[in-house]
Amino acid sequence: MRVDIVSIFPDYFAPLDLSLIGKARGTGLLDLSVHDLRTWTSDVHRTVDDTPYGGGPGMVMRPEPWAAALDAVASPAAQLIVPSPAGRPFTQADAHELAELPHLIFACGRYEGIDQRVLDEAAARMPVREVSLGDYVLFGGEVAVIVIMEAVTRLLPGVLGNADSLTEESHAAGLLEAPVYTKPASWRDRAVPEVLRSGDHGRIARWRRTESLLRTAARRPDMFAAYPPESLDKFDRAA
Ligand code: ADE
Repeated sequence: MRVDIVSIFPDYFAPLDLSLIGKARGTGLLDLSVHDLRTWTSDVHRTVDDTPYGGGPGMVMRPEPWAAALDAVASPAAQLIVPSPAGRPFTQADAHELAELPHLIFACGRYEGIDQRVLDEAAARMPVREVSLGDYVLFGGEVAVIVIMEAVTRLLPGVLGNADSLTEESHAAGLLEAPVYTKPASWRDRAVPEVLRSGDHGRIARWRRTESLLRTAARRPDMFAAYPPESLDKFDRAA
């Protein structure tokens, strides 16, 4: 997968050299480039923003540098991702869709955002997704891009050693994952649930399933309500 990230703070992306994303880059699974938007400015001050039409606080990112940047990194297969608190909520389903694509371009807005015409013009040439990480406001899109890149990269074939961890994890099946434990069996007078040490795989699976349902109902009533009732069996209902 090819990824181009455009930002006025390329240094934000140093963590993408680390851990499994760094490794995916090293092995060629991920071809990631970070670009400084100011490369595409033409004035001596390398200006990227200006005051908003219609008034109001803050500054808006000017269209010219963005258009030049997108022209430079675009490809026929590209999809543009723009993190924004005004976007649609980013979900695990989005991560799966993005992981299938050959080329992602991330545009990191700062200040009050990017001139809307940049996104409208880009949408005439390629799919554009404005996505929000949640109902809160960050300084800009940079951290959101790191989050999205983590969610997407771990879905690329060959990145995770054990692909089973993708099927069992929270959100994969519309439920939160059950709690997990490791050794020692007793720690500070707290025992690991007996069932997990029983070796009875049927009971363990049933326990995990019940914990998953109870956790989801308690922490994410929205997810629980959306869970298809036909996916519940008689043991689930009893729980
Ligand atoms: N940029 C600023 N706030 C954001 C958010 N909540 N999600 C994605 N991008 C953002």
